[in-house]
Amino acid sequence: MAGGTLRALFEHELKDLRAAEQQIIAALPQMIAEARSDDLKRALEHHLNRTRIHAERLDLILKQYDVAVAANAPSGIDGLVRAGQAMVAAHADGDVRDAAIIDAAQHVEHYEIAGYGCARTFARELEDDRSADLLQQTLDEEGDANKRLTQIAESGVNEAATGGLAEERGRPTRLKYVAASTLPSAETYREVNVRNRAGDDLGRVDGFVLDAANRPYYLVVDSGGLFAGGRYVLPIGKADLRRSDRLLVVDLDKDTLKRYPEFHPDAFKGLSDDEARRYEWRVLEAIDPKAARASTREWTYERFGWYGEPDWFDAGTIAPSAARSQTAPGQPRTPSRPAPATPAREPAERVVAREEAPGEEMPRERIRGRKDNLT
Ligand SMILES: [Fe+2]
Repeated sequence: MAGGTLRALFEHELKDLRAAEQQIIAALPQMIAEARSDDLKRALEHHLNRTRIHAERLDLILKQYDVAVAANAPSGIDGLVRAGQAMVAAHADGDVRDAAIIDAAQHVEHYEIAGYGCARTFARELEDDRSADLLQQTLDEEGDANKRLTQIAESGVNEAATGGLAEERGRPTRLKYVAASTLPSAETYREVNVRNRAGDDLGRVDGFVLDAANRPYYLVVDSGGLFAGGRYVLPIGKADLRRSDRLLVVDLDKDTLKRYPEFHPDAFKGLSDDEARRYEWRVLEAIDPKAARASTREWTYERFGWYGEPDWFDAGTIAPSAARSQTAPGQPRTPSRPAPATPAREPAERVVAREEAPGEEMPRERIRGRKDNLT
């Protein structure tokens, strides 16, 4: 078909997409083999199966238009695939490799999303509803694949990659939120009510905020609507677990709770180090305004007893990753928090600068929600 018509452009796009899908089918097995995260492996395997179906859908449409595509036909995706392979090869060591695979895969997904979006629109313009429907199905699946990659990146892969960088600099990784329901010891924390010493019902256990070695710093409580923000955090040392009663007794009165900043796990993950410190300072300010104001320059967790690790918190069973735990399974934890590896220099993540938090509000949009950083 000669150029100059929308149909010619449509056929050109279909051929490019068909060649692209072929390249993706050829490239994905290596990415699957190289991925470390089980979630990432499964997502890529699933997408490889879907990609074969995408190619079949294109074949149906191409047959209808009597257009043939050679097995090794070029596509605009050629450069993206090569660049992605080079990126993964250049960052093949350590935890950053999965982040590189996701980066490469998302470049490819966006190319496909652009191509399928155009092809779908062209089909509609040409009043070929059947082809438009098939292309829309594939477009939706490419979008789903892209979103899934973002989820995987944000649920651990990026953090692990960041940890690698932090370790290179001799610093511990920043604090992370872990849902109690995802822990090996989930049953211990399932439907555990939270009450203060006056007997006020303050919600249920939701999760914990841990450091890279799974040391707890905060208990995360789901207030169940009692508190406008839904969830809030409490320094871990202010909570006492009574296992037989499925009750967590906390040292927190209702008036203090009203001053508490909200806690949103997704937003917390997206905070910069400075923003996270300022958020933590607001928690400190709510607990003890005097102590917060008296902190002339900075405070450390060690300065306040309420950040001490409680006896009931068992890292041997709670550690989501044995490789990251510093405690052998089944062995009791040292009740007090271990001293930093380099006591002469306080790790940046464990210091909250007073000057950065002069009582100002956190940017609400950062707390309430965040943008996808990869889509
Ligand atoms: Fe595809």
